[in-house]
Amino acid sequence: MRAGDRTGNRMTHWTLDSIAWDKFDRSKVNPDLLNIVKAASLVEANGGDYAAYLCSVFSDDPEFQDAARNWAREEVQHGMALARWAKLADPDFDFDDAFKRFTDGIKIDTLRTDSIRGSRCGELVARCIVETGTSSYYTAMMDAAEEPVLKEVCRNIAADEFRHYRLFYQHLKDYLAKERVGPVKRFVIALSRITETEDDELAYAYYAANHGSEAYERRRFVKAYIRRAFGYYKREHLERAVGMSLKAVGLKPNGLLNRVITTVATNWLRLRIGRLARAGA
Ligand SMILES: [Fe+2]
Ligand SMILES: [Fe+2]
Repeated sequence: MRAGDRTGNRMTHWTLDSIAWDKFDRSKVNPDLLNIVKAASLVEANGGDYAAYLCSVFSDDPEFQDAARNWAREEVQHGMALARWAKLADPDFDFDDAFKRFTDGIKIDTLRTDSIRGSRCGELVARCIVETGTSSYYTAMMDAAEEPVLKEVCRNIAADEFRHYRLFYQHLKDYLAKERVGPVKRFVIALSRITETEDDELAYAYYAANHGSEAYERRRFVKAYIRRAFGYYKREHLERAVGMSLKAVGLKPNGLLNRVITTVATNWLRLRIGRLARAGA
């Protein structure tokens, strides 16, 4: 890996100005995708707070701190691009208002000096899982989107998320040489991070972006978010995500285990989304 890659520095990164906004086609906007794009814009725009937390956990590692700051700049840009598209699709979308509601409700402890995952390796495994999730998420959205500008935005973001995964994975390999966190422990951390997908942060973002004038009902908004966010996943998206997750915990990415987990996950997701759709989530 080149030095620039290790700090997440990119000379030729896309910008908001490089997106062909004039190709926007209102007739191809999918309202469910619009709902989750709005929610994603809030979570992404909050990347700066997460970088502050990472810098405090990795307080004696200036190279990683640089990487975390560059990473956060890209996440915030994802938020800005998604918000701009959402505003084109729905001129009534008030990003600032929704973002305030979101950050008032969800707080990241930026002053912690130890990782909430118990170790720096644990933190990096969790980061790899998050980037696995976002890279598959935007790929699934890109494949589902018919609106051309959203497709372009999602393509750019998905490529960034995959690069973020590689960035954190590189740093994870360095820390594994120092901390020795075995595959079982890493597997437990990965699993706990995956199940947090149903925690408040994403459901709250969905609420703050789409239903801000109502009261927050956790169960209702978790279901509404899950139905829309995971409804576009196909087997190939899950297969890739499972491979990336297995690699992060130190297991073979593309073997029998991947096929078994992917099959179980695909069927389970299909059942769950079907049930949520029938229940009107
Ligand atoms: Fe992102
Ligand atoms: Fe990312």
